[in-house]
Amino acid sequence: MIYFDYAATTPVDKRVIKSMMPFLNEKFGNPSSMHSFSSETKKVLEKSRVIIAKAINASSNEIIFTGSATESNNMALKGVAFAKKRGHILVSSIEHDCVLNTAKWLGENGFEIDFLPVDKYGIVDPKEVEKRIKKDTILVSVMHVNNEIGTIQPIETIGKICKKNNIYFHSDAAQSFGKIPIDVTNIDLLTLSSQKIYGPKGAAALFVKDGVKIEPLLHGGGQERGLRSSTENTPAIVGFAKATEICLSTMEKEQKRLTKLRDKIIATLIKEVPNCYLNGHQTKRVSNNVNVRFSSIEGEAILFMLNSYGIAVSTASACSSPKLEPSHVLSSMGLKQEEAHGSIRISMGRWTKESEVNYLLKILPEVVKKLRDISPHK
Ligand SMILES: Cc1ncc(COP(=O)(O)O)c(C=O)c1O
Repeated sequence: MIYFDYAATTPVDKRVIKSMMPFLNEKFGNPSSMHSFSSETKKVLEKSRVIIAKAINASSNEIIFTGSATESNNMALKGVAFAKKRGHILVSSIEHDCVLNTAKWLGENGFEIDFLPVDKYGIVDPKEVEKRIKKDTILVSVMHVNNEIGTIQPIETIGKICKKNNIYFHSDAAQSFGKIPIDVTNIDLLTLSSQKIYGPKGAAALFVKDGVKIEPLLHGGGQERGLRSSTENTPAIVGFAKATEICLSTMEKEQKRLTKLRDKIIATLIKEVPNCYLNGHQTKRVSNNVNVRFSSIEGEAILFMLNSYGIAVSTASACSSPKLEPSHVLSSMGLKQEEAHGSIRISMGRWTKESEVNYLLKILPEVVKKLRDISPHK
């Protein structure tokens, strides 16, 4: 099988596994204990925090370890909402479900929620953010890179607008961290994930800027500055930090390599396959993402036929694709239901080879032709 679904999750790098191993057995102590078993785990936990903080130009006390990006996003939105008690929240309409559904839930529980529109490329206009800010706006949440279409949002500009208006700004960077440089100077809360950057599942973080007040979702022993009680998952956090170090040290070279492969896929498909279109922006997109649509056929049919040729891609995002509803991201960009349904996401990563891309480019046009030959929608 050839894997083209790195945006859903990544395999754990062998160097990451090696870094984690000692903390699964001989160095197993609880970082909160007082004896010698804990001193090493406490040290490595804080070292990991420094590595992750440095990667986004933050201080280590601003990094709260969590169990997943979903948890970090819930913590950011509910944490601010519960601390402020009431108010107006702006979120983009193309957020991951874990932000959208959290916002909707807050909307049913006393907060006013507004969804920011996007243009035909799936990009939020900062002027639209400024226009929709109200007297009682407490939080704006706009993701850095969209998980389906890979478009990069102008979070620097949006962050500055929020700062000027004294409003907290949160960004979900699960798809950009490790791929694009991030600086949190104008960001108050930022979601980071380990499982998208060749680290283990079960580790993630929320950057919470010094002075930003949030209520914890979990109450207990008071770990993570009292914001996330639970014994820290030391092995996974060590792996997360190692994965971060590897991504940072290879970022520039890797992004150049993947951008070349990405642009080759896009150009070849658009040239060789009739009625094939790119979803999202041509250049304001993350290096590893291709999202294309084909008229008259279903993305799911393409996915299953490619799978039979040993190629794994996805439709919409991995978490929402079983719903078989048109993607909310593509609908927000103005695509009609039938256009959205013919879309697939091809996402690449550390082990994607040019020979694999060439195989995909040989098979995919054949698959589209076969499906169109039997399609009732011609
Ligand atoms: C942008 C974005 N945010 C949040 C998540 C949720 O991540 P997890 O399932 O690890 O909590 C994902 C996962 O696909 C994502 O792509």
